[in-house]
Amino acid sequence: MIRQLADQGYAIVDGLLPATDLNELQRSAQYILSAQATQAGTGRGSNHGVNAGIRQDHIAWLDQSDAASAGFLARMEQLRQQLNQQLFLGLFSYECHYARYQAGGFYRKHLDAFKGERNRLLSTVFYLNPDWQAGQGGELLVYNHDGTAIVTSVTPLANRLVLFLSEEFPHEVLPATRQRLSIAGWFRGA
Ligand code: OGA
Ligand code: MN
Repeated sequence: MIRQLADQGYAIVDGLLPATDLNELQRSAQYILSAQATQAGTGRGSNHGVNAGIRQDHIAWLDQSDAASAGFLARMEQLRQQLNQQLFLGLFSYECHYARYQAGGFYRKHLDAFKGERNRLLSTVFYLNPDWQAGQGGELLVYNHDGTAIVTSVTPLANRLVLFLSEEFPHEVLPATRQRLSIAGWFRGA
């Protein structure tokens, strides 16, 4: 993972969690999303609002209130320290939310951060979908910086973690033929 990030600015890691942790996290995601998901918005400050032409996921932020969510946050804190030690990224904090896209849902091409603001430095997406089949769609497409070429296409397979530099890679979520669950997160510089 460290080598991929240093060489390419992105990384794909399979098998992040032990099977029992993954199962509990899948259950928590479903329960928490069904109890408290809200439609995700776009933009900041006075530009913030729901725009279903841009993104169609429903989200719920992780916190310490259930063991599986707390366990995932602890795993990412471990990763934060490792990345700072080995890549000197200066990652200060981490935030993440569960995300549910119903069949047909998408998130159009976007950047998670804007150059120079040093807020979101490194994006992460962890997938929770067992038995994802070729042909079910839902890929994460990662583009080069000017958005003219696809750098990689990622199938949203359970237990797969994707990381990419937030300011460098525009990306989009393609519609799928089934529900798609994930945890989208960001290591921040402040
Ligand atoms: C996001 C995002 C990608 C994915 O939530 O900002 O780009 O694969 N998610 O779910
Ligand atoms: Mn994104």
